[in-house]
Amino acid sequence: MSAFLELTGITKKYGDTVVVDDVSIAIEKGETVCLLGPSGAGKSTVLRCINMLERIDNGRIVLDGEELGWRLHRGAMRELSGREEARQRQEIGMVFQSFNLFAHLTVLENVIEAPVGVLKRKKAEAIAEAHELLQQVGLDHKADAYPAQLSGGQQQRVAIARALAMHPKLMLFDEPTSALDPELVSDVLDAIKQLATTGITMVIVTHEIGFAREVSDRFVFMEAGRVVETGPSARLSVEAAENERTRGFLSKVL
Ligand SMILES: Nc1ncnc2c1ncn2[C@@H]1O[C@H](COP(=O)(O)OP(=O)(O)OP(=O)(O)O)[C@@H](O)[C@H]1O
Ligand SMILES: [Mg+2]
Repeated sequence: MSAFLELTGITKKYGDTVVVDDVSIAIEKGETVCLLGPSGAGKSTVLRCINMLERIDNGRIVLDGEELGWRLHRGAMRELSGREEARQRQEIGMVFQSFNLFAHLTVLENVIEAPVGVLKRKKAEAIAEAHELLQQVGLDHKADAYPAQLSGGQQQRVAIARALAMHPKLMLFDEPTSALDPELVSDVLDAIKQLATTGITMVIVTHEIGFAREVSDRFVFMEAGRVVETGPSARLSVEAAENERTRGFLSKVL
């Protein structure tokens, strides 16, 4: 039985430089896993490979029993067409450091845009669900505001609601709070913590170790493109981490 999300020996090169080097990670359904490591370790690249913004040079990624980017056709593996790939990508929600909301649309319009435009959901249904999602991230009272009228932390929470509106199988977060002023960080982290209790599967790149320890089930520590250590998040302390390099990293950031 394979895991819900299974990365097997994935490798990504830029020219001759290997930035993700034979990485294997297995994540069970409903698990929250945080991805840690120094700058340049390859964390963002791993997320970008999972949601097919980057093409892997080697290895395979299987989500919920389906290989990403490829399918078996008459006994041979064939690359997916752009359309098939877009369908797979829809099942993966991604929240970046920058929020990328549509500036000319209200908060509510931002959240319903893809469900209505891409999934062809009925508008009234999409609106009702958008209100629920906005409530979940504490922002339903801002439904009619425009992104420029919101703080960075509020915009990031709208970005989370917008991703959830597509009913993703998997949520990926790449340093969701690192562009925020310190006083805005906790609301966003709280929204993600709340999300973790809903049973969705999540991979979170973060430098907030306290948050990682609290919200995630497991950590994966990467360095120079490779997985160095993985373990239960309770072990995210200088004393408890097993690998010397993980301990060195934690001693710098904690
Ligand atoms: N498009 C690209 N072309 C060439 N090299 C790249 C490209 N994107 C990333 N890299 C290189 O790949 C390596 C891994 O980058 P990546 O962004 O995945 O690191 P990271 O772990 O997310 O770091 P950070 O914590 O700073 O965000 C880095 O050395 C980076 O310079
Ligand atoms: Mg990064």
